[in-house]
Amino acid sequence: MRKKIVAGNWKMNKNAEETEDLINELIEKLPDDIEAEIIIAPTFVNLASAVDHVEFTNITIAAQNMHNAENGAFTGEISADMLQSIGVETVILGHSERRAYFHETDSQLAFKVDTAIKHNMKVIFCFGEELKDRQDKQHFNVVENQLRDGLFHINNEAWENIILAYEPVWAIGTGETATPDQAQEMHEFIRETVRTRFGTIADDVSILYGGSVKPDNAKEIFGKPDVDGGLIGGAALKADDFVAIVNGLK
Ligand code: PGA
Repeated sequence: MRKKIVAGNWKMNKNAEETEDLINELIEKLPDDIEAEIIIAPTFVNLASAVDHVEFTNITIAAQNMHNAENGAFTGEISADMLQSIGVETVILGHSERRAYFHETDSQLAFKVDTAIKHNMKVIFCFGEELKDRQDKQHFNVVENQLRDGLFHINNEAWENIILAYEPVWAIGTGETATPDQAQEMHEFIRETVRTRFGTIADDVSILYGGSVKPDNAKEIFGKPDVDGGLIGGAALKADDFVAIVNGLK
């Protein structure tokens, strides 16, 4: 079902104590009069304590990545079963930093998506064009290919568990944000691309915008009809900023 969602991707930030402190501050400050799903993604080592801390709140904990294999000789990797065994049922896949620095490809992501679906986990599937793609007017093609190659092999039922996150790479951590109109234009394109292949499922999928969302631009971006919330990086590391962004859904 299409929902409002704000997700915080903490990336490689916050040690154990800082994770607990920030979660406690969020629990205290997040509004309880907003109908939205709040998801936060701390680092792997802090997921178990994060899950404990958010019990009885409406915050959900997500992992920032996982391996597609069930288990085996993959040094340094984490499996779906390991995540689920500590109560993590949501995973971010395909973040542009995973694609750029760790060379994750669309076809590898397709396997990860399959594993998540097999485990009935929720996926925040990230994709978005680079600056050069936009300058070359290839941004729609790039986004369509990423969706097709990484995600569009799934069946209709699997969409229940998919959240899309459009994150133009040129806007991530750069302070540069897509304008609300640019975000809307792409989100509408994404929804229509999903519709072409999966019909009315397109109306039910939540599409988040990510890339330098801040307290002062969140409301305008979230106000666009095809933007269902945000995936927040830098501004998710300060409780007051994250809460202000969540309030942008009002
Ligand atoms: P940013 O990151 O908000 O710091 O631009 C967004 C993301 O990487 O998900």
